[in-house]
Amino acid sequence: MALGTTNCLAALCAGGKCATLPNSFGLKPTPAAVCLMDGKAAVGEIAKNRLLTHPETSFEGFKRRLGHNNENFGPIDQASLVFRKLKSDLKLLGVEALDVVTPVSCAFGYSQVDAMSESMRGAGLRPRFVTDSEASALAYSYAGFKDCLALFIDLGGGTLDAALVSYEGARPRIISCAGSMEVGGDDFTDSLAQRFLKELRINSSSLDIYERAELKKSAEAAKLQLSRDPVVKLEGIFMGKSRELIISADDFITISKEHLFKVSKVLQQVFRDASTRPSRVDRCVLSGGAAKMPAISSGLSRMTGGFPIRSLPPEEVSCIGASIAAALGDQGPFLLRATNNTSLGALSYIELVTGAEERNLRLLAWGERLRQESLGSLRLQLTQRLSVFAGALGGRNPKILEEAAASLESFLKKMDKDRKNP
Ligand SMILES: Nc1ncnc2c1ncn2[C@@H]1O[C@H](COP(=O)(O)OP(=O)(O)OP(=O)(O)O)[C@@H](O)[C@H]1O
Ligand SMILES: [Mg+2]
Repeated sequence: MALGTTNCLAALCAGGKCATLPNSFGLKPTPAAVCLMDGKAAVGEIAKNRLLTHPETSFEGFKRRLGHNNENFGPIDQASLVFRKLKSDLKLLGVEALDVVTPVSCAFGYSQVDAMSESMRGAGLRPRFVTDSEASALAYSYAGFKDCLALFIDLGGGTLDAALVSYEGARPRIISCAGSMEVGGDDFTDSLAQRFLKELRINSSSLDIYERAELKKSAEAAKLQLSRDPVVKLEGIFMGKSRELIISADDFITISKEHLFKVSKVLQQVFRDASTRPSRVDRCVLSGGAAKMPAISSGLSRMTGGFPIRSLPPEEVSCIGASIAAALGDQGPFLLRATNNTSLGALSYIELVTGAEERNLRLLAWGERLRQESLGSLRLQLTQRLSVFAGALGGRNPKILEEAAASLESFLKKMDKDRKNP
């Protein structure tokens, strides 16, 4: 099951075939929107439509807020409703969902993974996670990728993930990965809306929530159209007056500079961490709806010297890949992040010790290394990192260090046990 910033999907992998499944309206995906109506909750298309008419009681974009706040009916409860809906829709198709693999951004930290798993457990699911890039790499492995170096980029509504993947035969191995929760399709839409207000000298604080919702909808439509047409009209009715602004594809690139810069920073990080160059990439794969923006594919063509591939449906790839990961289970090439306390402890430990700048040492990369390296060498490396971290902290926060050391110990013990009793 994939909970996106914009869209949600479920996919099933059985008998060697994988497919995404429709919701109870026979549609896919299900919009990641929830609303409260007369004391009852609704999910999906209904909630998306009510964002315009009842913006106070309708919610979207909560994936990005997971782990940041947990007020009553906050992001965890909102996400939980979506998972509940996906689960009940699957039941209508005769699928009883219990053990579920969900793709998450590699930019997700401990608190986000924790919040996501809480929302899933609240929906009666037993969650495990792969990253978006791992999932895409698996999906393309089943689509025939082998013996090549591939760059994967997933730009969704609210997150960016990029990874370099080496296929040894058909088996994918993540070499480096990086991501950001600060850039996604929503940000490009917001920038268009801001430009509209600026050009027409409308003070954003003068808009009520209905006008804001209307503007967002118009900016979203203009953004989608800009992927097809060189010039679009962004229009809306504000304070009773009809207003419009013409925007060209070139204007859009200028308006989006800040976001495109963030995308390029993440890509640079992936290549730096892998100590390789874009010209070494054999294949470049785009997924996520926002990667349909022409600026993304043309930027990548310039960078890698080849045309990006989008042969699998871009909005479905990571969900399909997650379903493959679910079918492969522990036989798969990637370590599925379990969500018990030990693995979360390990995740928090690894975050504490490696810090943000060593992103390719996040747990997914560790997952690969954990399989390959002896526990002794792992213990040594982790302990060395812990002491570097302790030095950096200068003894300022002994509690964090104690917690990190304790979670390291329990993590290694669990690994040891798992290896002895696979
Ligand atoms: N043709 C298009 N041109 C530009 N943007 C598009 C196009 N189609 C979809 N998008 C954008 O793609 C985003 C949704 O993509 P997707 O469904 O992959 O995101 P998500 O999985 O919900 O989000 P995330 O993975 O970031 O949490 C939205 O911002 C949408 O506006
Ligand atoms: Mg996505």
